[in-house]
Amino acid sequence: MPLIIVRNDITKMACDAIVNTANSSLLGGGGVDGAIHRAAGPGLLAECRTLGGCETGQAKITGGYDLPAKYVIHTVGPIWNGGGHGEAQLLRSCYAESLRLAEENHCQSVAFPMISTGVYGYPKDEAFRIAADTIEDFLRFHEMAVYLVVFGRDSLMVSQERFADIQQFIDDNYVDEHSDDQLERRRRVQGSMMCNAMPVIPPQEPKKKAKKPLLGGIFASQDEAAAPSLPVCEEAEAGLEEALSQIDESFSQMLLRKIDELGMTDVQCYKKANIDRKLFSKIRSDVHYRPKKATVIAFAVALELDLDETKDMLMKAGFALSHSSKFDIIVEYFIARGNYNVFEINEALFSFDQSLIGQ
Ligand code: APR
Repeated sequence: MPLIIVRNDITKMACDAIVNTANSSLLGGGGVDGAIHRAAGPGLLAECRTLGGCETGQAKITGGYDLPAKYVIHTVGPIWNGGGHGEAQLLRSCYAESLRLAEENHCQSVAFPMISTGVYGYPKDEAFRIAADTIEDFLRFHEMAVYLVVFGRDSLMVSQERFADIQQFIDDNYVDEHSDDQLERRRRVQGSMMCNAMPVIPPQEPKKKAKKPLLGGIFASQDEAAAPSLPVCEEAEAGLEEALSQIDESFSQMLLRKIDELGMTDVQCYKKANIDRKLFSKIRSDVHYRPKKATVIAFAVALELDLDETKDMLMKAGFALSHSSKFDIIVEYFIARGNYNVFEINEALFSFDQSLIGQ
């Protein structure tokens, strides 16, 4: 099962367990602690009184009382003190100990707030990295839906530098829907003229290596539509043959072929893609399975495909990367830089209010 990042109030999460960012007395407080005790009612405090407190980095479990969740796992995060006092280790332990208790109590789903990032002052981007890495390690060997709940207008605060770099990449590449439609119309006209005459290539087009048109002159991306093609009819016939051979392989066939070629196991692939086991077995058992675009991209990232192979896999599922989609541009940003860390990509997508891959 995957790590799922959601914007919500943790007291509303109907998971088997929710995690409380408590203090060592376990007798309530503000922030998440206050919200959970208010929503759970007096029964929660009465049970907490019997626990004898909790050490920083440790966790204890109680019933959920009036909450939608069955259990509350109380953990005490480290107070940020500059980073040189074992804070990272203690924060990692909060997530690991809470996951261990959830596993021991047969929870199939658990929701975490961003531990220590409120009153305790832990920098959000570092805290997110620790949360994602610890949860990812756990999910390599366990099946559980783990939610990371970000509250209100909070963001995950990708580092300012990366945020600015991605914003610049979006500004350089983003085209609004309208101009993209014009390009799309030009592409269709050029595509239909493909067998009759050399398409007119606007002089300002940069020199690009010739691209083969797919069947019927359709291109996988607008860059390919702009690239000059070689003399037409034999090119179109060759392109037709190659396109027909490409069309023989479906998305799921290409996925399974690439898993074999890379020597990965199915489990390694779908966990790295942050995709759950059930969805993967549907894809494996149906050669014509029609995935969501985010699912295709999750696997392209897990297989560490380059941009052309990613476009090819998308095309086999009936999609293309588009520069009128911020989601696509952010994914292209990471693939172009060879960064295939699903959690870093999702952190960036979340920070730009985009849907996430693999969920
Ligand atoms: N749902 C989800 N997240 C929330 C909610 C909520 N209802 N309320 C706050 N948050 C977010 C905060 O924005 C912050 O990012 O949870 C994160 C953790 O904030 P805190 O609750 O302040 O927890 P922490 O920083 O670990 O401090 C714990 O605060 O309330 C006291 O008794 C508690 O002493 C303990 C300390």
